[in-house]
Amino acid sequence: MLRKSSILVLFLVFIAGNALQAQEYEYIGAAKCKMCHNKPTTGAQYKIWSESKHAKAMDALKGDEKNDPKCTKCHSTYASVDESLIATLKMEEGVSCESCHGPGSGYKSNTVMKDRNKAIEKGLIIPTEETCLKCHNEESPNFKGFNFDEYFKKIAHPVPADE
Ligand code: HEC
Ligand code: HEC
Ligand code: HEC
Ligand code: HEC
Repeated sequence: MLRKSSILVLFLVFIAGNALQAQEYEYIGAAKCKMCHNKPTTGAQYKIWSESKHAKAMDALKGDEKNDPKCTKCHSTYASVDESLIATLKMEEGVSCESCHGPGSGYKSNTVMKDRNKAIEKGLIIPTEETCLKCHNEESPNFKGFNFDEYFKKIAHPVPADE
């Protein structure tokens, strides 16, 4: 009996695993997020990001470094993800929204975005310190250390609280 049911469990895990794999979301790039996230009244996240070092991270690389995966894997979202999942994301965007918030093709619609749980179900990531440590670590030749609270303040882009 026991054996039969464990085989069934394994089988179900296998099916669930495949279903998850089939649901791979694509990277759509910051210009798409800008359409809804650039109003000053809701926090102008796009503007804040576009003026940050993340948006300009490709500018820090010179000459051949711009094509060197050893550098671009942290300096550009484009180079850090599976190429088959790139829809309209561009290399020049540097460290784009989706490096922290996950690929947007599934959650980008207004109805999904308005419902936080649904958005998370469709690939939205609410980033934590772990997200940052993927790039802010000692593998970086220019690593300056990382303190989440301090660094997060420098890139904060909140939705303003209602008055
Ligand atoms: C069609 C409009 C639209 C697009 C496109 C869009 N968003 Fe949103 N997003 C929203 C709305 C509406 C909310 C809910 C905001 C609120 O309730 O104040 C939201 C909320 C969010 C939140 C906050 C989630 C939470 O509850 O903490 C994040 C993060 C976010 N969007 C990231 C993105 C990113 C990254 C992109 C591009 C890949 C994007 N959005 C594209 C409309 C959009
Ligand atoms: C593991 C991720 C990672 C890799 C790999 C990486 N970088 Fe960086 N790079 C960063 C981070 C994060 C910063 C921001 C510096 C900090 O605050 O630690 C940075 C900053 C820089 C800066 C700015 C330095 C400054 O003083 O502000 C330059 C230039 C740079 N990197 C060049 C390169 C080059 C060239 C390569 C490839 C040989 C490379 N990086 C590989 C993550 C990385
Ligand atoms: C995909 C890689 C990546 C991720 C993920 C990432 N960063 Fe960065 N970050 C970089 C790179 C590369 C730079 C350097 C850009 C430059 O100097 O041109 C940088 C620079 C910064 C800077 C500017 C540092 C300075 O010297 O002024 C801050 C602040 C920062 N990151 C905060 C964060 C925080 C907070 C998170 C997580 C929420 C995070 N980063 C996630 C790659 C990343
Ligand atoms: C380096 C990582 C990083 C990048 C790049 C980034 N974000 Fe965020 N974002 C965060 C973190 C961390 C939070 C705070 C999560 C939380 O509420 O705990 C956040 C929060 C948000 C929120 C919710 C704010 C609130 O007060 O509820 C929105 C909306 C958002 N980001 C949109 C964007 C958009 C749009 C872009 C690109 C134009 C972007 N983010 C780029 C890390 C990032």
